[in-house]
Amino acid sequence: MQFPKQVEIIEVGPRDGLQNEKNFVPTEQKKQLVERLAQAGFSRIETASFVHPKAVPQMKDAPEMAVYSRELGLTFLALTPNQKALTRAIEAGVPQIAVFVGASETFNEKNINRSIADSLAECAEVFKKAKQHHIFIRGYVSMCFSCPYEGVITYEQVKRIVSHFVAHGVDEISIGDTNGQANPKIVHERFSQLSADFPEMTFVAHFHDTNGFAYANFFAALRAGVTKFDSSVAGLGGCPFSPGATGNVATEKVVQLFSEMGIETGIDEVKLKEAVLFAKRLK
Ligand code: HMG
Ligand code: MG
Repeated sequence: MQFPKQVEIIEVGPRDGLQNEKNFVPTEQKKQLVERLAQAGFSRIETASFVHPKAVPQMKDAPEMAVYSRELGLTFLALTPNQKALTRAIEAGVPQIAVFVGASETFNEKNINRSIADSLAECAEVFKKAKQHHIFIRGYVSMCFSCPYEGVITYEQVKRIVSHFVAHGVDEISIGDTNGQANPKIVHERFSQLSADFPEMTFVAHFHDTNGFAYANFFAALRAGVTKFDSSVAGLGGCPFSPGATGNVATEKVVQLFSEMGIETGIDEVKLKEAVLFAKRLK
């Protein structure tokens, strides 16, 4: 079997992980987690989310986390679902934004209080302004395989959002199994179809591990040509608007998997272990 020599692991724990904690994790502890992850060598870390503080109180310290991430010299991502979020992110000096739209209408409305059509229209405006500020744009498509409210999600539903992101100049697209219900067969098919339809686009695999299939799904995505993967230190997290979903696939397991396959991740496993122990104490 042929595999890439190198992959990129994007650490999303400080955002996708901590957004789902029951109690607010103090900002100072979040900073320590980010610092430990930075020392482990991640090229990019998602450290903040400029959503409404009432919707996700755990992310209310986004401006402070962004400023800290910048001071650390990190390349970091922050969620910006609308124009207000983008304005806040620009003020805080965010280099990479992440916009998110659900492939399921019901999930999108529950998550960001908009129809998919309205979200796509707003994304176009967010992308335009972000480009004026030379900000890298990630587009997330959530619920790309199934949805807790609507059941099966078709390829056409995912393609609708991907096409819109591509048409408006997105830099990369993260394909989310938000509720962790995908299996390796559908993952391989969906990523293969996406790269056939959008050969110039960079796709990232973003899998939650509800069924314990996330590692198998990573492997299926790798076989479909994906070389960028989101994961969360200690498997922290979930989505507050996706009932039953657990955390992302655990970073340390993914790094170990790739390392044992001889695929370079650039991550220092000893330092990562320290970050994992620290993250577990935050739970
Ligand atoms: P809304 O209430 O519809 O917003 O919220 P609005 O535009 O109607 O404005 C209402 C008020 O909110 C206004 O204030 C706005 O200024 C304010 P007022 O004039 O009444 O005083 N407002 C804001 N304030 C701060 N920051 C903002 C903001 N926007 C408006 N950004 C909104 C819409 C999207 C903000 C809200 O629904 C929200 O914050 N939702 C949270 C969504 C979320 O964080 N979900 C979890 C992350 S997504 C995820 O985990 C999936 C992912 O991991 C990928 C995967 O796994 O698939 C990414
Ligand atoms: Mg997620």
